[in-house]
Amino acid sequence: MSQAPINQGNSKNLKPIDLKVGNCSGAKFYIRETNSGPLLRKEFKGNIKKLKDQFQWLEEHGEFPFIPKVSNPIESLDSFSYEMPYYEKAKNAHECLDEINDKTFSQILESIESLKKEKDEVTVDEINYYLKHKLDKKLRQCFQNQKSRKITDNNIILGKEYPSIAELTQELNSHRNILKYGKNSEIHGDLTLENILIESGKPLFIDPNGENTISTIEVELAKLFQSLNSSYEDLSIGKIKLEEVLSLNEHHFFTQLKEYIRSNYGDSGLLRVYFHELIHLARLLPYKQINLGHQYHDFLDLFIIRSNQFLKMVKE
Ligand SMILES: Nc1ncnc2c1ncn2[C@@H]1O[C@H](COP(=O)(O)OP(=O)(O)OP(=O)(O)O)[C@@H](O)[C@H]1O
Ligand SMILES: [Mg+2]
Repeated sequence: MSQAPINQGNSKNLKPIDLKVGNCSGAKFYIRETNSGPLLRKEFKGNIKKLKDQFQWLEEHGEFPFIPKVSNPIESLDSFSYEMPYYEKAKNAHECLDEINDKTFSQILESIESLKKEKDEVTVDEINYYLKHKLDKKLRQCFQNQKSRKITDNNIILGKEYPSIAELTQELNSHRNILKYGKNSEIHGDLTLENILIESGKPLFIDPNGENTISTIEVELAKLFQSLNSSYEDLSIGKIKLEEVLSLNEHHFFTQLKEYIRSNYGDSGLLRVYFHELIHLARLLPYKQINLGHQYHDFLDLFIIRSNQFLKMVKE
């Protein structure tokens, strides 16, 4: 791997490009024209581990047609970057959701399935660690930072009363056995619609995240729930309010996704995906609290409402 001088970054002679992205990780993008077409360099300054792991994952999975070929990594003490083809005409699946047809959506699901390489069973220790660190701790962290709301207070959302976060998380923890079934698999780990590019009707998976304590297929599919059930992308940029999210008609791809899960992983698989969607929502809350304005409260309220719905579903 080539070394760039410390503190200089490694893209200073390249043309920056604003990809007008909503959920900002702080990555920067640059274009380099080459004889075989434009390349996009993705660079992150600061904690380089995440982008480095991302590059390695993409490189290791480059044999799949739906994984872009990455190249030319440059590492320095405080920055990491790599290149991949720049798909000028592509849009991410969130941007072009209305243009995606059933065939393309099925291809997304088939790609997830072909990536999946089942490994060992999820262990009780992994589940305990996962719930402690990605659910309980993240929520407690939010309430330590915010004085206006207490973790033990009941919640009134849009005129309706809901249990406190303390009560909800305790109840969720009491149903931890739901997560027990399933095998750790090879997953992308952050497959929201924004991380799927649609290029000539075909999906390409970008921006993977290997940092999931549990890596089951349900963890993967729950990211699609985040986009299709919880309007994650639009909620993050304040394009939509919580009230609208709750009044939206179910998207036909969400219906298709649930049918797919039911027929491949059964009703228990579907329940696990709903559970993981809650954990995905919870684990991003401290980040949303720091980086967003009132949208953070919408995310917190959505977590409460979805948890309440889930717990009702479990009792049925
Ligand atoms: N190779 C590419 N060709 C075309 N567009 C791309 C490419 N890579 C990324 N994009 C666009 O840029 C967006 C952000 O890219 P990516 O998901 O890699 O970054 P990120 O880590 O999520 O950064 P940010 O948080 O700033 O979005 C994607 O949703 C997509 O719209
Ligand atoms: Mg992304």
